[in-house]
Amino acid sequence: RNRSILVCGGAGYIGSHMTQWLATQGHTVTVLDNLSSGHRQAVHWGELIEADLLDAPALEQVFRRKRFDAVMHFCARSLVGESITKPYDYYANNVTGTLNLLETMRRHDVNKLVFSSTAAIFGNPIHDVMDEEHPKVPINPYGASKLMSERIFADAAQAYGLHSVALRYFNAAGALPEHGIGEAHACETHLIPNVLRSALGTGGMLKVFGHDYATHDGTCIRDYVHVQDLAQAHSLAVDFMDENPGAHAFNLGNGQGFSVREVISTAAAVVGRSIPYEVAPRRAGDPASLVASSCKARAQLGWRPQWTELEPIIESAWRWHRNPPQWFPSQA
Ligand code: UFG
Repeated sequence: RNRSILVCGGAGYIGSHMTQWLATQGHTVTVLDNLSSGHRQAVHWGELIEADLLDAPALEQVFRRKRFDAVMHFCARSLVGESITKPYDYYANNVTGTLNLLETMRRHDVNKLVFSSTAAIFGNPIHDVMDEEHPKVPINPYGASKLMSERIFADAAQAYGLHSVALRYFNAAGALPEHGIGEAHACETHLIPNVLRSALGTGGMLKVFGHDYATHDGTCIRDYVHVQDLAQAHSLAVDFMDENPGAHAFNLGNGQGFSVREVISTAAAVVGRSIPYEVAPRRAGDPASLVASSCKARAQLGWRPQWTELEPIIESAWRWHRNPPQWFPSQA
């Protein structure tokens, strides 16, 4: 069934892969983005409306002009470290922005939302593999802002009949270079792009933040999931809401953790040369290990990730980084 879908943040990394997936499935896509970190050139599928979620009147105009069956909400500030030094920015963009969107949706009787949540809502892991019931005690404003949003969706389900699916991504990775999209942050902080830029000689010396964590090799463990698999889950979530009212949440990861050193050695195999690095102090707000249980998403959404190995995920990112588009931002 074809739907009209508003993708807020559709010019960004995960959002642009979402629009590609939706277009492939025959849906009608509209992108809303303030282009603060997204790229006009990454919007290949559907109309781009340049607007900010903090601009409620602009949002109202968008919903007056077009009818949407569902909204996917990827707009957010999303850097853990930055959230600690700029908490007001994070609460304003991520919580107030979400509230503006929800209020506009309610006024226009749009009652289906898929939301970008994060493993950061859980804080320090208590269990090795984290399912949806894991205690939620975020240790940074970014995680807190996303957990607050999830709480708002539960209240909105009660009060206004909002249907929502919050998808808690673990570490989004990979690219679809054959479609002209991939990770392109002006200020890159993420591990895989930093490793690949360093291999290309465009990123400076790679730093490993901390080697004294309580993990098998002392470096942090993360669960890397391909952005195309995340996109698949969002589509399934929209269908899921047809039959399942109320507020829902799912963890999305591959269920296997890789240490920073393992990511570097896998990347070295992909690029065919060794990648030097130096050990640096721990980064504030980094938990030692984040690995998802996605049993619930598999069982209830029917999610079937296609990118289950780390090497092809890194390889897709490598093809993107080694041959970037002209608009690719140079490092700040
Ligand atoms: N790391 C390095 N060197 C780098 C970059 C990262 O050692 O140059 C390390 C980090 O310290 C961390 C791991 O690699 O241990 C992964 O770091 P990323 O920045 O790639 O990803 P994070 O796990 O910090 O963050 C991601 C998302 C966040 C989300 C978080 C938890 O970007 O939005 O996962 O779900 F909140």
